[in-house]
Amino acid sequence: MSKGHVLVTGGAGFIGSHLVDILLARGFDVTVLDCLLPQVHGEAECDGEGWPVYLNPAARRIRGNILDDGIFESALSGVTHLAHLAASVGVGQSMANIVDYTRNNTMAAAVMLEVLSRTPHKVERMAVASSMSIYGEGEYRVPGSDRRLAPPLRDHAQLLDHDWELHAGDVDLEPVPTTEDKILQPASIYAVNKRDHEDMFLSVGRALRIPTVALRLFNAYGSRQALSNPYTGVAAIFISRLLNDQPPLVFEDGRQRRDFVHVLDVAEAFAGVLESDKQVWEACNVGSGRAISVNEIAQTLARLLRKNIAPKVLNQYRVGDIRHCFADIGKLERLFGIRPKRDFDLGMGELIDWVSTARRPLDRSAASMAELANNRLVI
Ligand code: UD1
Repeated sequence: MSKGHVLVTGGAGFIGSHLVDILLARGFDVTVLDCLLPQVHGEAECDGEGWPVYLNPAARRIRGNILDDGIFESALSGVTHLAHLAASVGVGQSMANIVDYTRNNTMAAAVMLEVLSRTPHKVERMAVASSMSIYGEGEYRVPGSDRRLAPPLRDHAQLLDHDWELHAGDVDLEPVPTTEDKILQPASIYAVNKRDHEDMFLSVGRALRIPTVALRLFNAYGSRQALSNPYTGVAAIFISRLLNDQPPLVFEDGRQRRDFVHVLDVAEAFAGVLESDKQVWEACNVGSGRAISVNEIAQTLARLLRKNIAPKVLNQYRVGDIRHCFADIGKLERLFGIRPKRDFDLGMGELIDWVSTARRPLDRSAASMAELANNRLVI
């Protein structure tokens, strides 16, 4: 007997498609609602109707945009669980396409929630994709002190001085794992949209008594990751460079740290939250809990690819970048017993295999660096 019926918006995408596999394997029926954005799906191998070939054939498919008249309401037929992952996801792009981003991210959430509040349905649980970008800078402390700090973004003058760390007076602040209660300081329209849509789902979910969890994803990586669009993460970019015998180009001094989480750990977090019967309305981090510097990523990838190529440290700043942010992953474990399982080196090895076999492992760094410079987005 089916465990329930999950509607996965964005289910043809990088994270959504892995979630679809896991849900089907765990005994759910699945419907995918996806508009197959060319930016995301342009490079994947697709069938005659435009669906990526990796998408599980056992899922029911609806092609369309949540904003299309009536589409969400009809997609909800028989649905008991909602996983909302569809979004416009280019952080930089969001700053020039404010109307589109706000429509696709915030207004789409409004449409979904209004349908849920006005029409009869069977939805009993929701999980929505949020992002670490809503934090802005991560959490810090003065070395030796227990007091946690949430400093603002570094200012222009500091960055022009190539002074990369955050300070309190003369002291360099020490980054610590970021917890969900850190104040939110979204620094892009994408991040503002994600914060708003998280709040919208949590507040309407609470009012309708539908348990809802917003998952704040850190830097997800893995197979099916789009390789040439603006939200391609640093690891895939570095692999393309190394495969083309070029040094990875490192912004700042390369000591900035992030939290790289395997896409299957992310997909399992969604599945676990949907399967749980906890009556909660909460936001939870989804990371690996491990902080890794950009230099370490470049070195690890060169080692795994057996390339004797050192990264090129540019000592330049990419506008909008934060310095350090990595997850405190305790809340997801406390509430749901969910912990990430994948090893970083093994995961990076899989990413390398995926990039090497994907259709176009082209190195687009030169073009994207020129574009960043033209738009004055590197300093
Ligand atoms: C951003 C978003 C995040 C999103 C992620 C992946 C923010 C704060 N975060 O994260 O929501 O999930 O993209 O799409 O907006 N770097 C280099 N060389 C390169 C590329 C990147 O040194 O060629 C550095 C960047 O300067 C940054 C780090 O690598 O310090 C990580 O960059 P990236 O992979 O783009 O992700 P974030 O900016 O952390």
